[in-house]
Amino acid sequence: MLTSMRQLVLASLTVFPLVTTAASSSIFVSPKKDFAFALNVPDDSSSSDLFFSLAFTIPPSWVAVGLGASTMGGNPLVLMAYPSASGHNVTISPRRCYGHSEPVYDSEIDVKALPGTGLFNDTTYVFNGVCSNCRSWSRDGKIDISSTAQEMVYAMGPSADTRSDNPRESVKVHSSYGSFAMDLVHATGTGGVPVIPASENVTSVGAVQRLTKTGYADKKAILHAVFMILAFVGIWPFGILVLRVGGSVRWHAINQVVAFGLVLIGAILGFVISTSYNRSKKFNTPHQIIGILVFIFVIAQLVLGFLHHRIYKKTQQPTKIAPIHVWLGRLVILLGIVNGFTGFPLALSPGYDFALLGVVSFVLLSFLAILAVGTVFKKVMKKSKQSEPEATGYDLEPWRGAQPEVQPSAGYIVRDPPTPTRLGVPPQGARQFV
Ligand code: HEM
Ligand SMILES: *[C@@H]1O[C@H](CO)[C@@H](O)[C@H](O)[C@H]1NC(C)=O
Ligand SMILES: *[C@@H]1O[C@H](CO)[C@@H](O)[C@H](O)[C@H]1NC(C)=O
Ligand SMILES: *[C@@H]1O[C@H](CO)[C@@H](O)[C@H](O)[C@H]1NC(C)=O
Repeated sequence: MLTSMRQLVLASLTVFPLVTTAASSSIFVSPKKDFAFALNVPDDSSSSDLFFSLAFTIPPSWVAVGLGASTMGGNPLVLMAYPSASGHNVTISPRRCYGHSEPVYDSEIDVKALPGTGLFNDTTYVFNGVCSNCRSWSRDGKIDISSTAQEMVYAMGPSADTRSDNPRESVKVHSSYGSFAMDLVHATGTGGVPVIPASENVTSVGAVQRLTKTGYADKKAILHAVFMILAFVGIWPFGILVLRVGGSVRWHAINQVVAFGLVLIGAILGFVISTSYNRSKKFNTPHQIIGILVFIFVIAQLVLGFLHHRIYKKTQQPTKIAPIHVWLGRLVILLGIVNGFTGFPLALSPGYDFALLGVVSFVLLSFLAILAVGTVFKKVMKKSKQSEPEATGYDLEPWRGAQPEVQPSAGYIVRDPPTPTRLGVPPQGARQFV
């Protein structure tokens, strides 16, 4: 009994060696009690240290407190923490906020880990530390240790699995955040690591909650993905059906222009989102490079489509632009779909690629089936009516030249019979599309 008591005392001494010195502190506890931040201002006037403790349970994937401001725009100094790569310790990431974008790691901020840092009881991550230069920072950032209501901001990541030893680790945008005012006079006293009571009923001491926001998500990023997938996986491939099964150039153009509108908005959103995250600010990831190329191609495609059609209407002859439009169109749709699969990993949600694969497979297989059925149906109709072959003036198979038609070997037919327009003037009564 006695030895076990001594062991317990010893254990608590090695974990919290400064408990006995009873460091003064103010403590902020988040509304859901999944994050707490305690601060100690040593009363030794020669010291510029700040002792602090961050405690959190996961999810959230990361937590952060911003000193000296009530918003990201107010130039706070950010102490961010997330589980280490092993999952059994805490990585501290001192950062600077430059407006409403992902805070940037700053190696100048001098934070040292102190005993008591680690994972406790398999549930609670604690980082105990001291910062020697966190009372003031560049661009007039500072905390006022004589203030009884110093503005602070806090934020927590969504329930993703961030585990890293890298202080520069990319993080997702916060799913909740808020601000509080901390009494730094109350926090001033005997220097040392402040202790956050390990109780489910822990409450703020010397700190008052101000703003609270939960359920935040990067809506621009969500819209970007939705618009792009709608256009590249849905509407643009559908435009091929409109042309081949529906046989309407007018509706093809309308369909493709509508999708272009979505892609234009999607591209602008993509540009704005890129500036918000450290991993995308330089526009040098595969997703962004392919995306910019695809966007340029898409504009070219729009121009080529209209040009081709205008020339065709004047001359009633196939144009040299047509095969470029056909093949660039197919390439651009394919590249756009492939780029969707690089987008989710960039958003730190690689798991969504499986859902995308499902959607892409389902939609494209359905379209292929409609194309096959539509093509067979058109052939049957033609035969039964003994009508003239349709003259579209558009060479949908420029690679086939004037070769005789090959019997399809696969289960589906995606080719139209050769049209007489290739040989010259369209026959009388050729369909007018526009
Ligand atoms: C950026 C928007 C567009 C995209 C992504 C696009 C895509 C495509 C694709 C993939 C094809 C080939 C269909 C196939 O494989 O059978 C095609 C053909 C065609 N498109 Fe577009 N298109 C766009 C805009 C337009 C516009 C604005 C027009 C103007 C009227 C147009 C007119 C045509 C015509 C006439 C063809 C048939 C060309 C031929 O086969 O000779 N397209 N388009
Ligand atoms: C946890 O990480 C801190 C540095 O952040 C280090 O000082 C400490 O030794 C680590 N603890 C363990 C058990 O690895
Ligand atoms: C871990 O659990 C023990 C026993 O319940 C408790 O005394 C201790 O304070 C807990 N530590 C943390 C950091 O939650
Ligand atoms: C926390 O508060 C609840 C309700 O007030 C109480 O039932 C519970 O015993 C308290 N837990 C602790 C560890 O004090």
